[in-house]
Amino acid sequence: MSNYANTKDELDSLKERLPKWLEASKSLSTGGKVASYIPELSKAPQQALGIHIIDASGDSVSAGDCGLSFTMQSISKVFTLLLALMDNGEKAVFDKVGMEPTGDSFNSMLKLELVQPGIPFNPLINAGAIVISSLIAGSGPDEKAERTLQFFRSLSGNERLQFDLAVYQSESETADLNRSMAYFLKDNGVLEGNVHDVLDVYFRHCSVQAQCADLARMALVLAYDGTDPITGVNLVPRRYVQIAKTFMVTCGMYNASGEFAIEVGLPAKSGVSGGILTLVPGRYGIGLIGPALNPKGNSISGVHLLETLSKELDWSLF
Ligand code: DON
Repeated sequence: MSNYANTKDELDSLKERLPKWLEASKSLSTGGKVASYIPELSKAPQQALGIHIIDASGDSVSAGDCGLSFTMQSISKVFTLLLALMDNGEKAVFDKVGMEPTGDSFNSMLKLELVQPGIPFNPLINAGAIVISSLIAGSGPDEKAERTLQFFRSLSGNERLQFDLAVYQSESETADLNRSMAYFLKDNGVLEGNVHDVLDVYFRHCSVQAQCADLARMALVLAYDGTDPITGVNLVPRRYVQIAKTFMVTCGMYNASGEFAIEVGLPAKSGVSGGILTLVPGRYGIGLIGPALNPKGNSISGVHLLETLSKELDWSLF
């Protein structure tokens, strides 16, 4: 768990080494593809790669294209899970979503029909995250989405976080697969409420716009078991953070989670915008963006950079 006794020395050494590692990983971007099934996402710069690493005293190091704004997409699912757990408790949440990886792609609905009782396998695949959206407390989609945004703001310490309405609109207009999944879940009695309203909350939380520093700060709260170490404020009960981090290890990188656990060995969550949020428990929160994706939907250069960091600094938990 790290070659360095304290994070300050490690961050100092990273200031010199990180830019070189980042350049080496960046060259892999040409072999990846920017997501285009949500048309607005295809505008992202294919070659970009940026990373921000922050420790408990607020010291940080960043490299590359950290000024790039992007939408959280599936990374938001970790935090809507936390909010749903805080709103409903464990039992109500896990009556409706399972705790197991699927081995299938993030938008697959294959197992919903094959495996009874037909609840999504976990909260980080699309089907599971849509059910989680239905569990967020609020009088209607506007209040639910607003509560979610406020929660993300408190975790990131950034009151200016906003929805990217162009990406929200673009996803909402093209999400036939998610829509069919939601109707199927409703028919099965898993998803309650109005399908249109539930999906509206889901598309909105996927469209929250952030930068690497925002993801890093949110990850830092997870790295410190639910308490923001910079402010000392407890934001999430420790037990729920434990659940979320376990899902990040087993399902956070979709059907590449096993390989990521072997090669990097840290809890992480990716999104189709090319973002990755990861953490070194008790040490760092890390936010990364690299829009070019590998065939499994994870940032191709981003995964490579995290492999380098973990190996060079001995960060793996295992
Ligand atoms: O529902 C979707 O397809 C997107 N809003 C989120 C998917 C995503 O980020 C999966 N990532 N690897």
